[in-house]
Amino acid sequence: MYVEMKHIEKNYGSFHASRDVSFGIDKGKLVALLGPSGSGKTTILRMLAGLENPNSGDIFIDGRRVNDIPAAKRGIGFVFQNYALFRYMTVYDNVAFGLEIQKRPKEEIRQRVLEMIDLVGLSGMEKRYPNQLSGGQRQRVAFARALAPNPQVLLLDEPFAAIDAKVRQELRNWLKDTIHRVGITSIFVTHDQDEAVEVADEIIITNHGHIEQVGTPLDIYRQPRTPFVARFIGTPAVINNCNILTGFLQVGTGKQAIVRPEFLKIYKHGTMKQYISAAEEG
Ligand SMILES: Nc1ncnc2c1ncn2[C@@H]1O[C@H](COP(=O)(O)OP(=O)(O)OP(=O)(O)O)[C@@H](O)[C@H]1O
Ligand SMILES: [Mg+2]
Repeated sequence: MYVEMKHIEKNYGSFHASRDVSFGIDKGKLVALLGPSGSGKTTILRMLAGLENPNSGDIFIDGRRVNDIPAAKRGIGFVFQNYALFRYMTVYDNVAFGLEIQKRPKEEIRQRVLEMIDLVGLSGMEKRYPNQLSGGQRQRVAFARALAPNPQVLLLDEPFAAIDAKVRQELRNWLKDTIHRVGITSIFVTHDQDEAVEVADEIIITNHGHIEQVGTPLDIYRQPRTPFVARFIGTPAVINNCNILTGFLQVGTGKQAIVRPEFLKIYKHGTMKQYISAAEEG
């Protein structure tokens, strides 16, 4: 495991924001943290980045325990939810920021910045200021800025939340391609399940500060391990008293079942006799 959290607990005063959070991520994977608002996603990201300390538990990056390593030394790039670009700096200076702090040689900075701006498809816009860019372009600059110092891990907190639906869709595909091309281990937060399913190699589902399930999008869809996950993914109908309905005999002792609409077929009344073992009238 390249990035690992083990038995993390985090309290804000009396509020329990992370409860026994454990998960591991393989090198080079793009992983989504998916869960409802307030379920503790940002808290997990901030602890990984070193912007917040857990009350207990261990955090490992590339085999090294990083709990006591300050944020600036963890080798993490962070893209925040609202484009936190420096408003009074050009695109070039924004992307150069992390490298300037590391006091890299000027020529090396220039090459890296131009390479990053090219990577995010904004060549020619180096001299623009953030207010001369669209929302999508600004997020690309934020992405380039986070990647420029060559971090080991990239964290993105709802990178597309403030962007309209159509551009968002384009950016998702772009992000997925670009991250895989760069090959950097990345975790992005979203509360949009379509986004998670479309973009992520693996999904970590959070709820009330704990992790409900970790798996590929297909695992999570086909084999939800908790009632919460079953309801949260897809648009299932919940059936109460399912054991009185034909076709639900396999459900076992559960009181409720979910039906995914994509697996239902509807027939004209009286024409379904041939499917009688798996059909109900209604
Ligand atoms: N500094 C803080 N002090 C007190 N409570 C906090 C603090 N930061 C977060 N919380 C609480 O911890 C819980 C988890 O917050 P967090 O920001 O991690 O949620 P989230 O899953 O990222 O939600 P969203 O999808 O709305 O961004 C929330 O109930 C929040 O109010
Ligand atoms: Mg959040």
